[in-house]
Order: sequence, then structure tokens, then C-alpha cells
Amino acid sequence: KKHLLSIDDLTVDDMNLLLDTAAEMHDVQRRSVKKIPALRGRTVINLFFEDSTRTRSSFEIAGKWMSADTINITGKGSSTSKGESLRDTVMTIDAMSVDAIVMRHHASGSAQQVAGWVNAVVVNAGDGTHEHPTQALLDAYTLRQKLGSIEGKHVAIVGDLTHSRVFRSNVKSLIRLGAKVTVVAPPTLMPSGVEAWAKADGFELSWDLDPVLPTVDALMMLRVQKERMSGGFFPTPREYTVGYGLTRDRLALLRDDVPICHPGPMNRGLEIAADAADAAQSVILDQVSAGVAVRMSVLYHLLAGEEA
Ligand code: CP
Repeated sequence: KKHLLSIDDLTVDDMNLLLDTAAEMHDVQRRSVKKIPALRGRTVINLFFEDSTRTRSSFEIAGKWMSADTINITGKGSSTSKGESLRDTVMTIDAMSVDAIVMRHHASGSAQQVAGWVNAVVVNAGDGTHEHPTQALLDAYTLRQKLGSIEGKHVAIVGDLTHSRVFRSNVKSLIRLGAKVTVVAPPTLMPSGVEAWAKADGFELSWDLDPVLPTVDALMMLRVQKERMSGGFFPTPREYTVGYGLTRDRLALLRDDVPICHPGPMNRGLEIAADAADAAQSVILDQVSAGVAVRMSVLYHLLAGEEA
């Protein structure tokens, strides 16, 4: 059975197919009547143990527009609050003969673990600091739309890399699609072992944002994930903004055709100033729009060919 747990599950051809189908789904999304019958009779469970606005609602909309029955279960309202284990929870859901479980969980590797327990298709909607593959696909879709092609383009990913599953999925995805990638973070928010990883996969590291900005074709700002910093936030928020925030002054270092991405939710005034978030070159809401089309594409390819 096919799952989508990591960008590593996808070849370049798979990625291009998903992005091409997403473009067709985006056309459906633009219609006044959006319902298509592609997943009629299929059931998709959104199982979210961490909060979400974009990912959960876009998976639900994606399923509904393709006529699947979609059901949301959150950690807070489920029997996990009574002490039920993750394994018992997903085995219980699986016993209801659902077709797909779209899962977000705070533990890295949890989606892989669940895929080994259930008969349903599993889609990773974010597992701890590990991966968020559909975010990387929607980012690739947005950049392909804005830049024409990702091949040969220089993309900088900036921010709290240590805690970012978006970074981990995106660096893999962008390199596979032929981009030159530079990742920028303060030394305290660079993941351990990143030097070896950068060398093996062929991306650049920088602790200094200003010299990178004039050289990029696209910029991805990441959220500072304070909720994952149990030991406190270093540098301080003020120091972070001065060194790594996309401030109004730094915006002037970017070409004005360079798309500014942020996966959301944003800490306005910390990693990104309102002037940048709301700039004409910001594609943050285009990313949200692409999220529905890309998730339609993912669910379609994982479920539409399956035996009913
Ligand atoms: N980008 C993203 O995953 O946003 P949500 O947490 O709102 O789903």
C-alpha cells in the first residue's frame, strides 16, 4: 500500500505528476461549483493531535470537493484524553474501514509508525520536527507557478531550522526539483549534523542573512516555534528580528520579483514584518490556495485507483 510519509517516498516523476494534477485540481477549485466525483464512497479521517488551521481545513476541503466523506478527530476531543494510546486510537479508527488517515502528531516518526499498524493509507500532515511533505509540495507548486520552473533557481530557507519539519521536507523537495538551496539560521537554531547533511545533499549553509538576500530567486521564511523550545528562546526575540527577521530594511535587499513564502502561522514582527508579509511579492496566501489543490492531488493519487 502506498502512503505519503516523507518527500523520500516520491521520485522526481512522482512529484511532477502530483504538481501537474494539482494544477488540474486548481482549475476545479476556481469553478463556482467545485464538486467532482473522484473519491465518491471513500472515507478520509483527519486525525490531528497538534493544532492546525491550514493543513486540516485544506485536507477536509480537498476530500469534500472530491466527494469523499471526511471526518475530523482532534487529540483534545478524542479518547486519548482518557489515556488511550496512539496505537489503540488508530487501530480503532482503522477498524471502521476508513480509506485514509491524514495524521498530525508531535512525535517525529509517528506517521511511519502508524503506517505499520493500519490498513488505511496514511498521509503525514506533520510529525514533530521530522517532515511535512504536503507543505513542501504546495510550496513547490507555488514556486513553479511564480517562477515558471524551479530548476536552477536559488531558494533561501531562513529561520528556526532546528524545529522545522517544513525545512526538512522543503530542502529535499527543492533539491530534487533542481533548485540551488541556501539555508540561513542563527547557530543555535541550526540542527545538529546539518553540516554533514548539507555536504551530502548539496545545499549551502549561512549564519548571515543580508549577503544572501540579493542573490535569491525565492525566499522562504520559517516560523520561530516557541512551543518546541522548552529550554527558552536564544537568541532573544529582539536579537532574532535584528539578525534574521525579514524587516522592512531587509525587504529592500530583495529583487521586487522575488516571491516571499511563509508556511504560516506567522509571528508578525518576529520573523517577518507586516511590510514583507503584505508586500505585493508575498505569496503567502497563494501557498494557502495551492494547499487545497495539492492535497486534492495527493488524495486523488493515493485513493482514486484503489479497489473500492
Ligand atoms: N503550514 C501549516 O502547517 O499550517 P497549520 O499548522 O495551520 O496547518
